[in-house]
Amino acid sequence: MIEFSHITKTYNSDTPEAYTALNNISFSIDEGEFVAIMGPSGSGKSTLMHILGCLDTPTSGTYTLDGKDVSTMSDDELADIRKDKIGFVFQSFNLLSRTTVLRNVMLPLVYAGVPLEERHARATASLIAAGLTESHFYHLSNQLSGGQIQRVAIARALVNDPALILADEPTGNLDSRTSLVVLGTLQKLNREHGRTIILITHEPDIAEHANRIIRIRDGEIVSDEKSRSPRDAIGETKLYDNAV
Ligand SMILES: Nc1ncnc2c1ncn2[C@@H]1O[C@H](COP(=O)(O)OP(=O)(O)OP(=O)(O)O)[C@@H](O)[C@H]1O
Ligand SMILES: [Mg+2]
Repeated sequence: MIEFSHITKTYNSDTPEAYTALNNISFSIDEGEFVAIMGPSGSGKSTLMHILGCLDTPTSGTYTLDGKDVSTMSDDELADIRKDKIGFVFQSFNLLSRTTVLRNVMLPLVYAGVPLEERHARATASLIAAGLTESHFYHLSNQLSGGQIQRVAIARALVNDPALILADEPTGNLDSRTSLVVLGTLQKLNREHGRTIILITHEPDIAEHANRIIRIRDGEIVSDEKSRSPRDAIGETKLYDNAV
């Protein structure tokens, strides 16, 4: 699904402040994998995610996504790829405060020109897939817990039915129990719905829930290991009882 070949990203190239955040990175990720990308602050994780998510292009190297070379695409072409294939979950997800959960999730579809009835049906399905129940659909963000807000973020990432979900520190602001709920949601989407998931984190006990861990440091890969027995967040928490 993903093929990174000799990807380098240099910020402010051609200036004295030039900084190489990713240095000659190569790896591939198959459809249906659950991969954690780990590394200390400043190691290039978000830079990597922005390129993976077609939010930015590399300075050199080739990125092939589903057989297409996306490394030299224009901004408009990248936007189309994102709309079709990719869902994003960020660390601090701000719900529109005076807007219900359901409308927050429907919003990307408004921009995509999807008719109301279909927006409603798809947002409902995404919220249920992210582990929320209908009793939450008309809540405002100040009526939700941190974990519920992150589940809404996951629902919003799912609403365009993406094959690839990219999550940058999605548990960064959460206590450990709530983090497990969010990880369980991601594991369920991976195992039962076949979504490819790339999770960025600097916490080892979060990364242990993935089936593979890629570690980066100073913009280079230092290890890439498959895990035979990833931790099971679904089993670890009894909180997660809303079936997908
Ligand atoms: N737009 C930019 N312009 C210049 N330098 C940048 C830019 N974005 C990131 N950098 C630099 O690139 C390096 C990697 O940044 P990046 O945000 O990818 O790190 P990170 O691993 O995500 O860190 P954190 O764990 O703190 O989020 C850092 O040294 C950062 O200062
Ligand atoms: Mg970052």
